[in-house]
Amino acid sequence: MKTVSEIAALRAEVAAARKAGKTVGVVPTMGAFHEGHLELMRRAKAENDVVIVTLFVNPTQFNDADDFDKYPRDVDGDARMAEGVGVGLLFTPSPTEMYATGFDTVVVVRGLSERLEGKSRPGHFNGVSTVVTKLLNIAQADRAYFGEKDWQQLQIIKRLVADLDIPTEIVPCPIVREADGLAMSSRNVRLTPEQRKAAKVLSSALADTQLIADTGTHNAYELAAWLHQMIAVETLAKVDYAVIVDPSTLLEIESIGNGALAAVAVTFGNVRLIDNHYIPPPMGPANRR
Ligand code: PAJ
Repeated sequence: MKTVSEIAALRAEVAAARKAGKTVGVVPTMGAFHEGHLELMRRAKAENDVVIVTLFVNPTQFNDADDFDKYPRDVDGDARMAEGVGVGLLFTPSPTEMYATGFDTVVVVRGLSERLEGKSRPGHFNGVSTVVTKLLNIAQADRAYFGEKDWQQLQIIKRLVADLDIPTEIVPCPIVREADGLAMSSRNVRLTPEQRKAAKVLSSALADTQLIADTGTHNAYELAAWLHQMIAVETLAKVDYAVIVDPSTLLEIESIGNGALAAVAVTFGNVRLIDNHYIPPPMGPANRR
């Protein structure tokens, strides 16, 4: 595996691959790899000749300096893991390489960026949109891989790629979970053993919400109330939001009739976790055979 830190060097590698008729896949990350990241890389590897993994802890998407400082970093360990799944190119730019003196452009996806995570973390998605636009421009890939773990981020990236005519296909990848259901996240290592145990409530409440929907409760507000309540019984959990929304717009809906997204953000101590579950459209009488 080759590691490059300069934009020009990465562009040269991509140009050579393209000239040789190879397809290119890119997996943008902030490092501290776990199985969730590795699954994106495996998928990219299966679908492209060349895989680029970008590793950049993007300062502009952290609205809390402490969260940025405490974000886990292990470039050497990450490089070994990426190499282990067959990644050919690792891009590790410095902050000054990505944000040169005079940098003054922000990509804003209005609407979508203001909801849910955007409300709780002002400016966060502008940082994400800007850095992802840059990374997609730099990588010039055929496909880019993103996890459904960050569902709202995925919708925002799909929007900006469509709006700005970026010729890269966005490939959504399913959430990878721990054995007890907790969605894998680089932040999980910051949970105390008690908080780690308690954090199981997120995935179990989301799964139970699906069960309640399956028994015929299709009212989104009622389902959201159940979801909220099931998490709130865990005393270590502080619910930021627990909602049922439209999967594309992330706006509130009255019924899950056309499919819905159950989304939660919950804080354990000072660790904020997010998770979600897609609720497919229920089989109504019209759909039954
Ligand atoms: P990061 O949190 O490192 O995540 C990189 C990619 O891995 C994202 O697409 C994320 O959705 C995916 N991912 C994380 N945990 C996952 C899990 N449990 N299952 C499936 N996929 C998972 O997301 C970012 O970095 C940044 O915002 C970035 C897009 C790189 C821009 O800086």
